[in-house]
Amino acid sequence: MRRVVAALVAGAVVVSLAACAPERVPVAPATTAPVILPSPIAKVKSFFDKHKYSIDDPLSIWVINDKLRPLNPINYAPPDMVQAKVRSIFTPLMRPEAAAAIEKMFAAAKAEGAGEMLIQNSYRSYQTQVNVHQNWVNQLGEKGADAQSARAGYSEHQTGWTADVGAYPAKCSITQCFGDTPQGKWLAANAWRFGFVIRYPEGKQDVTGYIYEPWHVRYVGTYLSTEMHETGILTLEEFFDLPPAPDYAN
Ligand code: DAL
Ligand code: ZN
Repeated sequence: MRRVVAALVAGAVVVSLAACAPERVPVAPATTAPVILPSPIAKVKSFFDKHKYSIDDPLSIWVINDKLRPLNPINYAPPDMVQAKVRSIFTPLMRPEAAAAIEKMFAAAKAEGAGEMLIQNSYRSYQTQVNVHQNWVNQLGEKGADAQSARAGYSEHQTGWTADVGAYPAKCSITQCFGDTPQGKWLAANAWRFGFVIRYPEGKQDVTGYIYEPWHVRYVGTYLSTEMHETGILTLEEFFDLPPAPDYAN
């Protein structure tokens, strides 16, 4: 029998043959699991065209008015308004596409259990906006008025794309507690399905120029409202990379 013994002067060191055996490395068993490749029919996020409609032309569903973006012309009046066939406290004039969308939205709110809604305000002419804004100035002074009422020529109400929505029977009309009513909650969660956005969201006064108005809905069409809903971008200024508009230039 063969022995391997190495003797050194300082002492004996025994080197076992086992110490020279190759190291045993664990090897994973061969797998038969299928390799998963991306499905050719997987949903791919489609390109969103931010230039599809004008943001300057007041006839456009994407027109953006804020304290830095007056209507052009300043006394613009829409050419083709119709009366929305919904409950209202006055004649609810809107652009045809917006009127049809708000009719569908109110019907859906009722069918889905949120209760009935009405229009408090929709189209306002330049001259009506002069009067409305002056009324607020008389009550709150210029600064207070400007935080919640647009000067004439700067209001979305002048475009016919906008409405102030209320609960029926009336509760929290044109006040922020509307956002806590069943109608206000439903509107915040579902307006996008019908092409509307809550134009002055909570906490965005430094961007939009206006305090939280849970009642003020703006029609932009479902292409844009769906994209804003999916991306979580709350204001038109932020979505279109426009400068924040907390104040008028003069
Ligand atoms: N309340 C909104 C800002 C308007 O007057 O148009
Ligand atoms: Zn409004």
